[in-house]
Formats: sequence, structure tokens, C-alpha cells
Amino acid sequence: MKLKKIYKVIVLVSIVTCFITSCKNEGEGYQDISYFKMNTEGDLERPQDYRSWVYVGTPVTPNDMNDGKAAFPELHNVYMDPMSYDHWKKTGTWRDGTILVKELVSVGTKAAVSGNGYFMGEFIGLEATIKSSKHFPDEPGNWAYFSFTNPKGGDLADTGKAFETQMCNSCHNASAADDFVFTQYYPVLSAAKGVGENITPENAARRTAAQAKAFSDAGVWDAMAPTPEGLTLEIPLGKEQLFAYLKSGKYKSYSNKEATAHPSLGPHQKLGLPVRVFMNDIIAKSLEEGNNEHPLGSVIVKEMFTADNQPNGWAIMAKTHDKSDGGNGWFWYEVTDDNDADKIAAIGNGVEGCVSCHTIGRDMVRTSFPLK
Ligand code: HEC
Ligand code: HEC
Repeated sequence: MKLKKIYKVIVLVSIVTCFITSCKNEGEGYQDISYFKMNTEGDLERPQDYRSWVYVGTPVTPNDMNDGKAAFPELHNVYMDPMSYDHWKKTGTWRDGTILVKELVSVGTKAAVSGNGYFMGEFIGLEATIKSSKHFPDEPGNWAYFSFTNPKGGDLADTGKAFETQMCNSCHNASAADDFVFTQYYPVLSAAKGVGENITPENAARRTAAQAKAFSDAGVWDAMAPTPEGLTLEIPLGKEQLFAYLKSGKYKSYSNKEATAHPSLGPHQKLGLPVRVFMNDIIAKSLEEGNNEHPLGSVIVKEMFTADNQPNGWAIMAKTHDKSDGGNGWFWYEVTDDNDADKIAAIGNGVEGCVSCHTIGRDMVRTSFPLK
């Protein structure tokens, strides 16, 4: 009886091990974790369930703007598999094993109760592109292109043959913004490109105090490291004192400052609104020397303005340690109102939402130096 039990366990263990090993072997490719399937002839099986993937966008090339015959009529709903979207968000690159699907929809009507426009009619076609070094080692970028569209209308084909390079791949290669994919027409993808795993791209570009609160509930705008107490820098670090210091305008006497405001490249309030940067001598000297880490005491103040040039809060970076420590050595602060110390987007050391974007600067500093 006992022996039988042991035997059973051995059999079970060997089955499980075998299963794990074979999983592991297959797991080395992307094949078993991609959302597409090739049949034995090397054709792509028509993707299923893609409407539950990530919806990327809808370019429109209506027949009536293309001499009655658009190359790809008319609305193009583009979807992408969720695993590759996550990878795109994390790394800003296309995963080997990516699939994008383009569903073609005719224009149904050009007028609705909401106004004139192009409204979706019937589903008329389906195309796809996949990136697969295993199946298409010789295609540029390993991208291959497929169509399931029935040229006579009616049912879609169940499988698709890869087109020759010059039919599809070449145009994508020449004109698409991001390695064969037309991200210039998909803000969903351009906003997500490499933002990092824990950032929500749909919020990152538009932060108001209310959104900042929602974010801080999510943790992204919370301080991740303690701010040292009793530290005397050129600016006070307490919430009320710092706000009073900024209101007093004392930072305007820093000898290093941008001559005028210029459109922001960052999300500070809103892309393109005016900002003006002031730096104290410590950071200016360090930037001049080209240091990879700026010393304790470095202070940068950024004034923010509304579209009609009214003052609209400040963003601050100040070094509370000599070491940068992945942004924890920096104190981050942003207030989105000149008259309300409570409208803060972030305050404290190592704020992830700030760090994630600033990490590409030289020790977090993004403004180009010398200041203009
Ligand atoms: C003359 C250039 C050109 C050619 C040739 C071309 N495409 Fe595209 N393709 C585009 C553009 C531009 C977009 C994005 C905008 C849109 O959908 O109109 C796009 C988007 C796509 C997408 C959505 C994903 C992405 O990469 O943006 C798929 C899938 C696709 N095309 C498949 C095909 C297939 C299949 C063929 C060959 C039969 C083909 N394309 C040939 C220009 C081209
Ligand atoms: C989406 C990216 C992004 C995020 C998130 C971000 N910044 Fe910035 N920040 C920039 C860019 C780009 C600049 C360069 C100047 C400009 O164009 O506005 C900048 C400039 C600054 C400056 C002027 C000094 C410098 O580094 O050039 C300060 C201060 C600043 N940011 C503080 C913050 C704080 C505090 C947070 C978090 C509450 C934050 N930033 C979040 C992109 C970002």
C-alpha cells in the first residue's frame, strides 16, 4: 500500500516535471504566448476575439476623398494584442510576437443627430500584421502582412497568405513612425510608448490637482523616500513655507535663469504652455561641469503659466542628498495654482510620476543648459 503510494507520487512528479520542461522549452520562443496562430502551410489563421484586445485607433480614408476608391476603404479600426501593448508601454519597442489587426468598415451615413460626419456602416474587410523572427526571418523588421478581405464582398477568408515585401512591408518600412507601425496616427500608442509599467498614459498628459489626487491614490505621485528633516537649502521644504517662498518671488534673483518663458516640452500642466526655469548657483555650476550627479543643495524652480501668460504655479526639484539614488535623492514639488498652497500635484522625495519622465535627463535635469 505504502509502496503503491510512493509509486503514485513518483509518477505524478515525473508527469509534472515533464510538463514544466516542455513548457519551458516552448516558452523560449514567443510562439506559445503570441495571440496569432499559423497553420501547417505557414498561413495566418484569421484572428479571433481581437475586439477584446487593446483598441488603438481609427484612421479614416473615405472613398469620397479618394476618387471614389480608397486603397483601404474606409474606416480602419486598429487593435493590438494586450501582451504586446504591455511590452510597448514598458520598453517602447515591438515584441517579437506582436500582432496588429485592422478592421475595415464602410462609411454608413454622413449625417446624424449630432451633426455631419463619417459614421460607421458595415464591416467590409480584415487585415493583419505580425512581427515574427521565427516565421519571417527575411522580411524587413520581421513584419509580415496579411489580408482576409474577400474582394467580391461577403465572408472573410479563414486564412491569409503573407504578401510579398513590396506589396505592404515596403510602404510601412518607409513611412511609419515607429518600426513599421503608423504610431503617428495612433495617439493611444504614441502616448504609451515606453512610459513604464506603472504609469497610466491616459492620465500622464493631463494633470490637474483633482487628477493628481486620483494619481496619488494610485501611489504614483506619492513620495517614495523620506525628506531629511532640519535641512537648510536655498528653499524651505515644508509645504506652507515653500509656497510662501515661491509667492515672495525670491528665486527670481538667481543668477541663472531663462530670459523668457517658452513652450513646455513636458506635461507641466499641459504640453506647450509657457514655462520659465530658474537655477541656483550650485546646480548651474554642476551642469556647467557636466557632472553625472548634482550635489546636495541644487535647486531648480520652474514657473508655469496659462495660455494667456497668467502665472499658474511652480514645479521644483531640489537635491537633498549628493547621491541621486534613482530619484530618491531629489525632492519633487509641484503646485498648479498661484493662490492655493493646497493644489499640489506632488511633494516629497522620489516621486515616481516625476522620476519616470525625468530619468532620461542628466541626473534628472531635462532643460538644456546653458539656459537661454
Ligand atoms: C502606400 C502605403 C501603404 C501600403 C502599400 C500598405 N499600407 Fe498598411 N498602412 C498604411 C498607413 C498609412 C496605415 C495607418 C493609417 C491607416 O490605417 O490608414 C496603415 C496601417 C496598416 C495596419 C494597422 C497597423 C499599422 O501598422 O499601423 C495594417 C494591419 C496594415 N496597414 C496592413 C497592410 C497590408 C496587409 C498591406 C498590403 C496589402 C498594407 N498595409 C499596405 C500604409 C500602407
Ligand atoms: C511626462 C514627462 C514629465 C513628467 C511626468 C514630469 N516632468 Fe518635469 N519636465 C519634463 C520636461 C520635458 C522638462 C523640460 C522643460 C520643459 O519643457 O518643460 C521638465 C522640466 C522640469 C523642471 C525644470 C528643471 C528640469 O529638469 O529641466 C522641473 C523643476 C520639473 N520638471 C519638475 C517636475 C516635477 C516636480 C514633476 C512631478 C510632479 C515632474 N517634473 C514631472 C517632463 C516631465
